[in-house]
Amino acid sequence: MASRSVVNIVAGASHISWRDFLLGTVIGLVPGVTVASIFVDRVAAAIQEPGAGTFAMLAAMGAVLERHLELASPAQLGNDGKAIFKAECSSCHTLSAAGATGTIGPNLDQLRPKQATVVHQVTNGGAVMPAFKGKLTPAQIQAVATFVATSAGK
Ligand code: HEC
Repeated sequence: MASRSVVNIVAGASHISWRDFLLGTVIGLVPGVTVASIFVDRVAAAIQEPGAGTFAMLAAMGAVLERHLELASPAQLGNDGKAIFKAECSSCHTLSAAGATGTIGPNLDQLRPKQATVVHQVTNGGAVMPAFKGKLTPAQIQAVATFVATSAGK
């Protein structure tokens, strides 16, 4: 059925075994693929047997898919430093201005880093912290750094 074939295409295209595919993507990819494949099934059903219920279901699934894609893309955050911080940094850092309570990295309210320090750290990453170059645009890195530098300790 559609769900199997979509998964097969994804697994086949990436040249990895079924087991690695399932282990590696259970958290990230499978919910999206599952929704996408149910969506494909429903589109096929709607073409064969159109009905009000079918279209309502399609609209709902479209909304779920759209939300999934939005969550996956930092581009949707724009240049809002606080929104970027909440999405990308709050799991590891404490910063009360963003309501963030992460404890993996240093407490930024206490550290109170300069804007340039944040730009450097976010761009290049550190020993544990990932680099965000390529994931966030230079303008987004500037925006989150300005937010941290002006709100830390307040
Ligand atoms: C996976 C956890 C994690 C994420 C996500 C993360 N950090 Fe970090 N951060 C760390 C850790 C751990 C350190 C301590 C040094 C190191 O390992 O890089 C750190 C250090 C820092 C420092 C201190 C740099 C210095 O020179 O003292 C700043 C500033 C910083 N992070 C800002 C951010 C910002 C802004 C974001 C989001 C764009 C972010 N971090 C995302 C874990 C993280």
